[in-house]
Amino acid sequence: MSRFSTSSATALTIVLLAAQSGYSLPPTLKDAYKDDFLVGVAINRDIAMDTVAPADNVSRTQGRVDKDVALVKEQFNQISPENDLKWSLIQPRPGPDGYDFAPADAYVNFGVANHMYIVGHNLVWHSQVPDWVFRGTNPPPAQITPSMGFRREYSGPRASREELLQRMHDHIATVVGRYKGKIQVWDVVNEALSDNGTNLLRNSLWLQIIGPDFIAKAFEYAHEADPDAILRYNDYGLENPVKRRKLIALIKSLQAQGVPVMAIGTQTHVNVSSPTPEQEDQELTDLETLGLPIHVTELDVNGAQGGQRGFGADVASNGATTQGGLVSDADQRLAAQYANLFKVFLKHHNYVKVVTFWGVNDGVSWRQRGHPLLFDGNDQPKPAFAAVINVATEKSDSK
Ligand code: XIL
Repeated sequence: MSRFSTSSATALTIVLLAAQSGYSLPPTLKDAYKDDFLVGVAINRDIAMDTVAPADNVSRTQGRVDKDVALVKEQFNQISPENDLKWSLIQPRPGPDGYDFAPADAYVNFGVANHMYIVGHNLVWHSQVPDWVFRGTNPPPAQITPSMGFRREYSGPRASREELLQRMHDHIATVVGRYKGKIQVWDVVNEALSDNGTNLLRNSLWLQIIGPDFIAKAFEYAHEADPDAILRYNDYGLENPVKRRKLIALIKSLQAQGVPVMAIGTQTHVNVSSPTPEQEDQELTDLETLGLPIHVTELDVNGAQGGQRGFGADVASNGATTQGGLVSDADQRLAAQYANLFKVFLKHHNYVKVVTFWGVNDGVSWRQRGHPLLFDGNDQPKPAFAAVINVATEKSDSK
């Protein structure tokens, strides 16, 4: 009996034949789409610092974090910070000494070290912003609400318009200034549009205290702090024509005032049954009338039954959308929806410049019960991964 079994001899032949025929490893996401757009991912503190960080809302072992880091480096050429650049994390306390820069620095260093395109998320948002930002200078002590939690609005005595603009200015100047030349794109204003009725803007404390020009001011301050950065307006639910009309009205009015808004971020937290390819195509066609680059900023596809209605990214109601267990054939439906979406992104590649997944795998996703990403909690590719790669390969074959 020879030392080689028949099966290992066959395997050797296959490898040799493959080498002769130019067969190579399956392409990565960033390579598959390199002629079309960047393919990015939101990373959490664990990944940015390669550690198990107590602050994260997911619990990973160090071994899993190491695999997550390796996967991010292998597949993606752009990163977004899932939480660590949000106001409540980077400036939890007032004043120049109120900043916690370490996690944000680690995030930016990760991108620089790996030659990635680095996004900053975000500067002005109604959520994950500490109460002190909206608080008047000398409120009676009893009225100060101690909680820094997000989504519950501060209800104590309020800052004046001037005070709040000053805080916004100082925050933006400090944070954008610190990463000038490293962070190439900023989400300057996040989710300012209203979901309700005919109101254009969300009834946030920014709107109530400053007035509608809080948006223009934020863009002006960011542009002042880094004239080379691409400044983005980012929002969710733009698959919905009503919300999209509001977005278009808002951006047109900013453009008419000469506000430096330079790209549109469409979050794209969608689900396996909507949008249809026609709806997604219509969304991008309509957004293109603004003449700005489009970035798909927070892509994930919820496969849970509770998330099969409407579109959205409302942080408060997100938990409910991932309830009810997965839809049947979840893996296949996820693959089909991702293939549809990427076909539409490719069709619009003249405008779509960045596509960012909101998390590297289902185990770290903010919608983890909805298994919304291309990799499972062990970083193994799901059928949706092959589906996304195939869309790019088929496009190259038909060139
Ligand atoms: C989410 C994060 O993924 C969660 O970890 C956090 O608890 C809440 O925020 N729209 C946005 C993102 O712009 O910042 C949100 O990220 C998801 C919705």
